[in-house]
Amino acid sequence: MYSFVDLSLKFEEHFNKRQFPETPENLYDAAQYILQLGGKRVRPVAVLMANELFSDLHQDAFHIASAIELFHNFSLIHDDIMDKAPLRRGMGTVHSKYGESTALLAGDVMLVVAYEHINKMSSDKLHEVMSLFNKTAKEVCEGQQMDMDFEQKENVAFDVYLQMITLKTSVLLAASLQLGAIVGGAGIGNQEHLYEFGKNLGIAFQIQDDYLDAFGDPKKFGKQVGGDIIANKKTFLLIHAMDVANDAQKNELQALLKDNSPDKVQKVLELFSDCKVADWANELKEQYFKKAMASLEAINVLSNRKSELEKLARFLLDRES
Ligand code: IPE
Ligand code: IPE
Ligand code: MG
Ligand code: MG
Ligand code: MG
Repeated sequence: MYSFVDLSLKFEEHFNKRQFPETPENLYDAAQYILQLGGKRVRPVAVLMANELFSDLHQDAFHIASAIELFHNFSLIHDDIMDKAPLRRGMGTVHSKYGESTALLAGDVMLVVAYEHINKMSSDKLHEVMSLFNKTAKEVCEGQQMDMDFEQKENVAFDVYLQMITLKTSVLLAASLQLGAIVGGAGIGNQEHLYEFGKNLGIAFQIQDDYLDAFGDPKKFGKQVGGDIIANKKTFLLIHAMDVANDAQKNELQALLKDNSPDKVQKVLELFSDCKVADWANELKEQYFKKAMASLEAINVLSNRKSELEKLARFLLDRES
């Protein structure tokens, strides 16, 4: 069994080359730019880990892993336009460097190249892989639309927030794991347990992402801290603060949502702290971590084969970037 680190290196070896033609330079350099900034490569490595849980690594897992990482980066380029984000992976976002039109096209072409990678598969699982990939890609769009719609809303219920983050974030991690399991020859029961593991881990992952967006260390986070507050995102931080705040604090938060002054982020952060959102974040992460662990437990393979996935889960919840 390979560790997460071993598999990251193997994936990098496979993926670390220019994915696009040379010209038009503006288009393909923009696309390559975000890929070479790296990132954690969690999803493609999850594909490989899930394959390896059931059988030796198959070349098709590398094709799917590449497709998933390209899809992820496509979604990030478009997400950064939607979120008006200036920073990604510690550097300028694609649209801020190359302009919005090029960023849109770079994302579009990246999605097509993702499909080209899937098309390289040699096994007879192409149909199954394509169905899950497409279902997931549509769900990500649905989640992103909900996320954007919620910017305009005053209140979003916690369970609706959960539905939104499940769609925009968790299903991709869940699908990465299931796709690896498909290539690895897992039965449907094991595939479903792995999907559930990924879904709950993905929820905890987005909770950490939302937490870091407010309280992360700008030197480590790589994105603009406070971006979600500026964009009036309905994160669990805001939802929880609204739930537990006293009347005065509620009024202040509601007024801040309509505010665009330079000290908005600072003021909202203070209210979040007063409402003990950090404790709530830890509680939530623990809750979804436990659910994820129960699904991991249910997978019918020797338990020592699962330890790297458990380590990955812990790393994702404690990460600072
Ligand atoms: C960022 O994902 C987008 C979210 C779903 C929160 P990652 O935190 O995995 O980003 P990279 O690929 O490591 O930069
Ligand atoms: C984005 O969620 C999820 C997708 C890209 C589909 P966020 O908007 O929170 O991701 P970051 O924080 O910009 O990475
Ligand atoms: Mg964003
Ligand atoms: Mg977003
Ligand atoms: Mg975020």
